[in-house]
Amino acid sequence: MTQASGRGKILELEDVHTYYGSIHAIKGISIEVFDGEVVTLIGANGAGKSTTLRTINGLNRPRKGTITFQGRNITSTPAHEIVRRGIAQSPEGRRLFPRMSVVENLEMGAFQRTDRSGLKEDMDRVFRRSTIRGRRSCWSSRTR
Ligand SMILES: Nc1ncnc2c1ncn2[C@@H]1O[C@H](COP(=O)(O)OP(=O)(O)O)[C@@H](O)[C@H]1O
Ligand SMILES: [Mg+2]
Repeated sequence: MTQASGRGKILELEDVHTYYGSIHAIKGISIEVFDGEVVTLIGANGAGKSTTLRTINGLNRPRKGTITFQGRNITSTPAHEIVRRGIAQSPEGRRLFPRMSVVENLEMGAFQRTDRSGLKEDMDRVFRRSTIRGRRSCWSSRTR
């Protein structure tokens, strides 16, 4: 990983070890992510990609090591607080709420946001980018 020139460090993992019981899943990973970088984790099945992301997000606790986000130690910060600080996951598994509309699902994803106008702007941007024709139809269109 290279440092984007002149940009600050946003996220740092230092010698992080995560276990599932006695299974030593992450064996001392160190990562630095700088502002403006796109960083990809590549590895075989079982290499520890998901566990690394879960550890960053506070869903798994590292037994050893430190995670720093925007200069603050978040190693022991609860997951919901880490989301509030700005680290979120968009999982591939499509774990939506099937009985809710598209808009309702998007609102659930933004449940911690308090900036209503910014949220509306973001939603409109999503609808402009997607193949969904109009915001109105999404109030009733179910996800399945
Ligand atoms: N819930 C779990 N309980 C026990 N071991 C797990 C669990 N989830 C993952 N592991 C183990 O942790 C290691 C890393 O898995 P994972 O992070 O899911 O890898 P990847 O996402 O790269 O496929 C693997 O050895 C896997 O078997
Ligand atoms: Mg995985």
